[in-house]
Amino acid sequence: MQETAKLIVDGRTFELPIVRGTEGEKALDISRLRNETGLISLDPGYANTGSCESSITFMDGEKGILRYRGIPVEQLAERSSFVEAAYLLINGELPTRQELNRFSVMLNDHSLVHEDMRAFFENFPRRAHPMGILSSMVNALRAFYPELPERGEEEEINITFTRLLSKVRTMAAASYKISRGHRVVYPRHDLSYCANFLNMMFDSPVKPYVIDDDIVQALNVFWILHADHEQNCSTAAVRLVGSARVNLYAAISAGICALWGPLHGGANQAVIEMLNRIYTEGGDPGPFILRAKDRKDPFRLMGFGHRVYKTYDPRAKIMKAMCDRILEKLNLDDPLLDIAKTLEEVALNDPYFIDHNLYPNVDFYSGIVLRALGIPLNMFTVMFAIGRLPGWISQWKESVDDPKWKLHRPRQIYVGPRERDYAPIGERK
Ligand code: ACO
Repeated sequence: MQETAKLIVDGRTFELPIVRGTEGEKALDISRLRNETGLISLDPGYANTGSCESSITFMDGEKGILRYRGIPVEQLAERSSFVEAAYLLINGELPTRQELNRFSVMLNDHSLVHEDMRAFFENFPRRAHPMGILSSMVNALRAFYPELPERGEEEEINITFTRLLSKVRTMAAASYKISRGHRVVYPRHDLSYCANFLNMMFDSPVKPYVIDDDIVQALNVFWILHADHEQNCSTAAVRLVGSARVNLYAAISAGICALWGPLHGGANQAVIEMLNRIYTEGGDPGPFILRAKDRKDPFRLMGFGHRVYKTYDPRAKIMKAMCDRILEKLNLDDPLLDIAKTLEEVALNDPYFIDHNLYPNVDFYSGIVLRALGIPLNMFTVMFAIGRLPGWISQWKESVDDPKWKLHRPRQIYVGPRERDYAPIGERK
């Protein structure tokens, strides 16, 4: 028996089906609302709107749960690798040993970037933000890697996924090297995905990079924690742009642009900038907390709050523990970590933050981890983008495979001027 909700409009009753997810979440199916009632729903920011049914990622913001294809992110962070988590997200199941080997070989085979693309990198102004460069370069990939009609649709899609996962990592490291005026380091076939990235970032002709398993593991965890987060702003952008049936490179490029914003992925850079300011102004977070609570002040505590989590972000817990581990391992003493911990403690005991359910999110401690790995501040959001690629790809794939697929085209309530006549220029006031 179909569960329904009743809606009464102008004395007429309409029945709206209720849809249930596998974890018991409920939604009102309003897909026939306008046809039947003439009404649309209005939900600025889409906080109450489900844009799709998805079987990729489950999160419960009240309980602080995050699972990829049913598997808790805590288990993946402890036992898996980024490449394996990417396979899981994209294909729905953990790979067998053979599948994982094949996937790793494919990632290696597609790791080089067309040499002609170097000219682009070299001609961006030196101060260009790496996220702007990355989104342009990902879009440009389509020109260098056009469709492969002879391969068949499924094989072409798999090659495109692999290219993206592998080349974006190479391009990110190359843009860093070029921005410093250093020689680009090529990917190596004998290194794992994460070790390869670190080597491309930090190896130099005068000081060979020494691969450290703990650092490689920290990067694996960092990227696993960022791999997907259901219908967040950048993923929604990928689905929306992809819904016009544009090529995957263009859809991912749109996701990168969305992620760049300081309210989304750009928050990891903004957190460090905020902690640096607190540090240079004497180390007392008090005035910053006061500003964050002042409604007249646009300042927000970066790395705090989340649209869905109304409790501690489960990723932030893992990131905080990793932060302690990696600083200890590297014997580093980062004053920003002490400030972050004091700030967190003060905020978590402050009625404003308690009443508003504001807890640290994934970005609060991730910047300190990235600093410890030697990643420069302006590359932080690029690191997030590399991690989020499997999520964007799997969400795009799910949306194009969906038999209920539709061009995304929201409506609006128009509140502008009513019809009026065009005034010739001489008669305008
Ligand atoms: N500091 C101070 N106050 C905050 C903060 C914050 N970080 N976040 C939310 N609030 C307050 C708002 O001022 C508002 O208060 P009011 O109701 O008294 O006016 C209330 O909490 C609700 O805020 P909204 O902006 O409506 O909440 P929303 O769910 O849209 O915001 C967001 C989520 C954008 C993440 C917000 O918490 C924020 O700006 N945080 C800082 C930026 C950040 O860390 N972003 C990363 C998010 S995680 C990610 O994208 C990977």
